[in-house]
Amino acid sequence: MRKTIVSGMRPTGVLHLGNYFGALENWVRLQGEYNCYDFVADWHALTTGYEDTSDYKKNITEILADWISCGLDPKKSVFFLQSEIKEHAELHLLFSMITPLSWLERNPTYKDQLSQMKEKNITTHGFLGYPCLQAADILIYKAGFVPVGEDQVPHVELTREIARRFNFLYGNVFPEPKSLLTKAKVLPGLDGRKMSKSYQNTIGFADTPEEVRQKIMSMVTDPARIKKTDPGHPEVCSVFAFHKIFNEAEVPEIETQCKGGCIGCVQCKKNLAEKVSAFHNPIYEKRSELIKHPDDIRDIIQEGNCKAREVARNTLEEVRSAMKINWME
Ligand code: TRP
Ligand code: SF4
Repeated sequence: MRKTIVSGMRPTGVLHLGNYFGALENWVRLQGEYNCYDFVADWHALTTGYEDTSDYKKNITEILADWISCGLDPKKSVFFLQSEIKEHAELHLLFSMITPLSWLERNPTYKDQLSQMKEKNITTHGFLGYPCLQAADILIYKAGFVPVGEDQVPHVELTREIARRFNFLYGNVFPEPKSLLTKAKVLPGLDGRKMSKSYQNTIGFADTPEEVRQKIMSMVTDPARIKKTDPGHPEVCSVFAFHKIFNEAEVPEIETQCKGGCIGCVQCKKNLAEKVSAFHNPIYEKRSELIKHPDDIRDIIQEGNCKAREVARNTLEEVRSAMKINWME
């Protein structure tokens, strides 16, 4: 039997190239090899973004359009919306009974975020209990693997601990899932910092081909280069980092020319713009088509919801019976 994978993404707005190379590219590759459940983690987004929910509906449609245009296939993977499968909430509640507070308090992402998000009040029960919800998302489908970046590894560790504790208390119901640490490519933002919506340095799949070209032409390069003949330092230049991903074949040549002061940054960017466009345009076209038919997107998610719900219900029946709390049966 094929192993199961569960992957979640928060609906925080249109996806950008950084999201693609950080996660989606791997999801697309894995969908042929595993039994994949890909879900929109709307409840997770609420743990930090509970005040203003006005964009959620739009964001959910957009993220699905992005997924499909990037090559995720609803025929190969089960797409669903977390909040439509109420069993996640029930399992979260049951896990919260057996999860010691100390496990949640020592979670490094919890501590990090608390110190970073000073402007929002996230000293809430929901935010602290976030890893319990994530454990429910993963274990409800009895996943063998969770494809994650480094930052999510502690959450998967906690999921394993919760599974172990449940199995110890009530009998063997859950496998212990492993992190599938995939080599994500790191794409810097236009200004050289990490590509992130909050820095406004992204290239998004919803950007028009013209915007993409302009953004690339405005990228920050090696500040030491003023004249074309100044020797460059490609290792500090984000244009060069982009070439490594979009234009692998020419990388050695560009490196030599840049270091030798034989190529101008404008020319180097024009070349890059062509390569990025060749990747971006077809996705942009597909996305623009899809987004015109939100009802079709809705149908796709409905279908996935039904499949996911069926599996989730079965697991919950097993859970209640193992815990001997199926009192009405
Ligand atoms: N915590 C993840 C994030 O913020 C999203 C997520 C929620 C997730 N549940 C998951 C990822 C289950 C993988 C599996 O990116
Ligand atoms: Fe960057 Fe290219 Fe300019 Fe070198 S020539 S600094 S790699 S943009």
